[in-house]
Amino acid sequence: MYRTADAPRRTASTRGRGGADGNERLTAITGVVLLVLFAAEGVTLLQLRGLLYWHYFIGLLLIGPVCVKIASTAYRFTRYYTRHPEYVRKGPPAPLLRLLGPFVILTSVGVLGTGVALGLAGTRTYAGVPILLLHKASFVLWAAVMTAHVLAYVWRLPALVGADLRSSRGRRAMGAIGGRGLRWSITAVGLGGGLVAAMAGAHLAAHWSWFR
Ligand code: HEM
Repeated sequence: MYRTADAPRRTASTRGRGGADGNERLTAITGVVLLVLFAAEGVTLLQLRGLLYWHYFIGLLLIGPVCVKIASTAYRFTRYYTRHPEYVRKGPPAPLLRLLGPFVILTSVGVLGTGVALGLAGTRTYAGVPILLLHKASFVLWAAVMTAHVLAYVWRLPALVGADLRSSRGRRAMGAIGGRGLRWSITAVGLGGGLVAAMAGAHLAAHWSWFR
């Protein structure tokens, strides 16, 4: 149906929402956003007492893009296992990364979840364990898993994100595939959602008066 004279090589990726290639680009764009926010959150760790408000703010901001990342990879997972031809053709991630994927998600939810719990419950315990200890332990696990995840994928980001930025010059630009507007809108919605959470919850940092 799409093999018309003016577009003889058009594939599912070049029309509509970008298909499996578009999904891969959204995952990569979100990866870049997360890397920037991880770096900023890392800076707050260097001087937690003075920067506790910003530690909360960026931590809560991260929730939006992390949700987008989990959603985009879950979408690929679902499409693959429901045998969508394009996603089957693209194949699953490499075996080790495929194995690591659930731990990337679990530890990320763990760090963010215990962070939110700390904000709401302060110095209380959960099942006899201080929530602060749970937050620190999940951070250590997350850091180990995330280091492997980022090292495996970071080299793919320039090509994937660069192609989407270049295609702003038009759909005929090199590397242009459909769904560019949708991808950047989803990224903006994720950041916007995180920003709302950050603005609503960062004041909870004041609960930790013993830090000062
Ligand atoms: C909390 C943060 C993150 C979560 C929960 C997360 C989760 C995942 C999951 C579950 C997958 C699919 C399994 C796999 O291929 O390994 C994946 C793929 C990927 N991630 Fe992450 N990730 C996060 C952060 C990052 C960061 C910081 C980067 C930047 C390097 C990144 C870049 C990628 C890329 C490029 C893919 C492959 C996409 C594809 O081939 O379709 N991720 N991520």
